[in-house]
Amino acid sequence: LPWSGLTFVLSLCFLGNGPSGICLSYLLSGHTPYLSPEAWHPNPLLNSKLAEQPHLSLLEQDLEYLCEGLEGRSSNPVAVLFDALLLPDSDFGLDHTSPLEWRHEPERAIPHLVLGKGPPGGAWHAMEGSMLTLSLANWMELPGLKLKDWMREKRRNVRNDRATPAEIASYYQHYVTQMSLEQSFACGTTVTSVTREPGDQKGLPPCWRILGLQRREGEALGVSEEVPFSLLAHNVVLATGTHDIPARLGVEGESLPFVCHSFWELEMAISRGELDQSSDPVLVVGAGLTAADAVLAAHHLNTPVYHAFRRSVSDRGLIFNQLPKLLYPEYHKVSLVLHFLFTPPSSYPGYLSFPCHRVAAIRPDRKCVLVSDSGEETVVIVSKVLVLIGAHPNLSFLNNNGRSLGINPDEPISCRRNPIDVDPFTNRVLAADGPGLYAIGPLVGENFVRFLKGGALAIASDLAKRQSKEGGDLGRIAVFG
Ligand SMILES: *[C@@H]1O[C@H](CO)[C@@H](O)[C@H](O)[C@H]1NC(C)=O
Repeated sequence: LPWSGLTFVLSLCFLGNGPSGICLSYLLSGHTPYLSPEAWHPNPLLNSKLAEQPHLSLLEQDLEYLCEGLEGRSSNPVAVLFDALLLPDSDFGLDHTSPLEWRHEPERAIPHLVLGKGPPGGAWHAMEGSMLTLSLANWMELPGLKLKDWMREKRRNVRNDRATPAEIASYYQHYVTQMSLEQSFACGTTVTSVTREPGDQKGLPPCWRILGLQRREGEALGVSEEVPFSLLAHNVVLATGTHDIPARLGVEGESLPFVCHSFWELEMAISRGELDQSSDPVLVVGAGLTAADAVLAAHHLNTPVYHAFRRSVSDRGLIFNQLPKLLYPEYHKVSLVLHFLFTPPSSYPGYLSFPCHRVAAIRPDRKCVLVSDSGEETVVIVSKVLVLIGAHPNLSFLNNNGRSLGINPDEPISCRRNPIDVDPFTNRVLAADGPGLYAIGPLVGENFVRFLKGGALAIASDLAKRQSKEGGDLGRIAVFG
């Protein structure tokens, strides 16, 4: 870290350097969205509201007012608004130009530091494959740099809108360089604690204390060491995502070596050539997008699949019953396959589904015991078990793993069941120990890449409004010691 050794109070520190963190860093570096004078928005109501105060940047406008009446596929209103402004009418497959114009106003910049384990956006490599399968490439793009143009430059012909995880990670890294955001990113860091500190007599204001370790390359080649660091910040943004710890079934045999808990482990097994058409079936457990990706990956290798999930095939909560056809035209093939899979009799001969079943045990001889809702037992012989039933964030740096911040304080934080409770228009954490704690992304329940940018807009707008109210104090880094 560039600033260890002295005591600084940072105005803002965010934990996590994924797409939402990168987008927030862009907004806080003085890149400011305005309604472009020639532009119009296809939604007439939004268009007339935007035109009321065109001299104000989007950050200074009343987001709650602009959000009123907008509808979209996220429960976060600001995410729907930002999405509507960045990609108007994208739900209908139209490529309407964004009515936003980005101006660089360095005087608005708010100094900040982004802490992340890997390189910026690099977490993308570890991102669940599902987020990609069903996301159009342009939903992953960040303001100011067209992903399509960048991809076109990198590879000769772009045949479809689907980008690979490596391309997306590389786009995010390129973005950070291109937008000159690097000086705000500290990589190789692990945060071990975030606590509220009262002020002291020497004039140190009350603020957040962040402790952690930073990995550094040592003198000798290939040797790295972990150096502790300590930071103080007025504001902290929790942006770590929720993919740290895969959820487990909690059954006998789950730690056997042929049981995987992430799509990534499946990909490793495939690249080692462990699966082909002569393999015993793989058992995929779960009915989310990642599980679907695993079924498709196995199908691609002609490996037979057993697919066990708790819900019934017709359950409306099942993810495949929620995907509107119009939204995913280019995934026609994927949706056809999914449709066949979930509509018996299956046209994919190697596929056998076990709806309304749970896994009761996994035996060392690769026999798995499945039990139906009515108590019937089935024993299957498998080559691998892929448990893809979601993941939890690792919030061990917060008191009691951050449980007190959730909508239900008795449960662990998770994206779907128990997100962190925030104000929808500012992303301030409601149950925080002190002012200035924000959360964004999957931690607040945002599951689609497309809507990750919304939280960044909400926070940047809240900070801009606080800054003008508090007389610019927020933008100053106080130096002590
Ligand atoms: C959570 O993160 C901490 C600090 O990085 C690490 O020591 C711990 O092993 C992690 N917990 C799990 C369950 O992965």
